[in-house]
Amino acid sequence: MKGLKGKRVLITGASSGIGAGMAKVLAREGCHLVLHYNTNAKGIQDTFAEVQALGAKADVLQCDFRQLDELSDFLEQAWSVFDGLDGLVNNAGIVTKSTSINDPFGKQFADTLTVNLQAPYQLSTAFAQACIAAEKPGAIVNNTSIHGQATCEWFSAYAASKAGLDAITKAQAVEWGRYGIRVNGLAPGVVPVERTEAILLKPDMEKKWCDRMPAGRYGTTEEMGEATAYLLSDATLWMTGSILTIDGGLIARGNYPLR
Ligand SMILES: NC(=O)c1ccc[n+]([C@@H]2O[C@H](COP(=O)([O-])OP(=O)(O)OC[C@H]3O[C@@H](n4cnc5c(N)ncnc54)[C@H](OP(=O)(O)O)[C@@H]3O)[C@@H](O)[C@H]2O)c1
Repeated sequence: MKGLKGKRVLITGASSGIGAGMAKVLAREGCHLVLHYNTNAKGIQDTFAEVQALGAKADVLQCDFRQLDELSDFLEQAWSVFDGLDGLVNNAGIVTKSTSINDPFGKQFADTLTVNLQAPYQLSTAFAQACIAAEKPGAIVNNTSIHGQATCEWFSAYAASKAGLDAITKAQAVEWGRYGIRVNGLAPGVVPVERTEAILLKPDMEKKWCDRMPAGRYGTTEEMGEATAYLLSDATLWMTGSILTIDGGLIARGNYPLR
């Protein structure tokens, strides 16, 4: 992918799922990686070993993003691994399944907004400050979700966090364009990961979902990695403030009866 080789990229939430898929694709493209995790030490060691086998230089950092006052130190540590960063992928997130009725005091709502919205806001801001101080351009990719655009039962907290992340993507792109810092969003549809595959890969469940997708199948973590590589690369130097929806056509179709 144009201009990616040698780029230094921090990926949050690289210990499983989409983040691990992104790490492998970026390693294959010649990036050097700072891989973040929170609790899954085995998962991040697996990702680390795989990206090293692909020839990438890499390092691992731990941080719990609920500790918002630790985020600027965390970004500074990540920045110092390769003496600078060219890209930040805000991928870490929690998928909270609960209705508003079951969360009347907003505890899950607040936790979800902290990890999925405030943490990326602060990490991107610290990244942008460092780029501006170094007089270097930068590229940010926020992993949002189709739930930012269209949602369903149980996802009021999650959908609010992702719609907020879409909005911050646009607002920060506007703020930082003058410094050569691009901010884009990736909005995946349904991508089976370790956390969800036991349910999503049941044949009846898979049929129910995939019949509704014009592409007729789930997405893969590798495809999300490829889209991320594109957004970080020089192929998208004129792209900022955009949300790239990759969902097999799920939300384009609308909720019409199947024909
Ligand atoms: N899979 C999908 O279908 C789908 C669709 C649309 C959007 N997304 C988005 O994709 C991103 C990755 O999700 P995934 O599906 O790949 O799930 P996942 O495998 O559960 O990955 C979540 C990642 O976020 C990290 N994380 C969770 N809580 C954290 C916290 N408090 N502090 C720091 N890191 C934390 C996890 O770290 P540890 O495990 O190390 O604690 C893990 O690396 C999320 O933002 C999600 O909203 C996923």
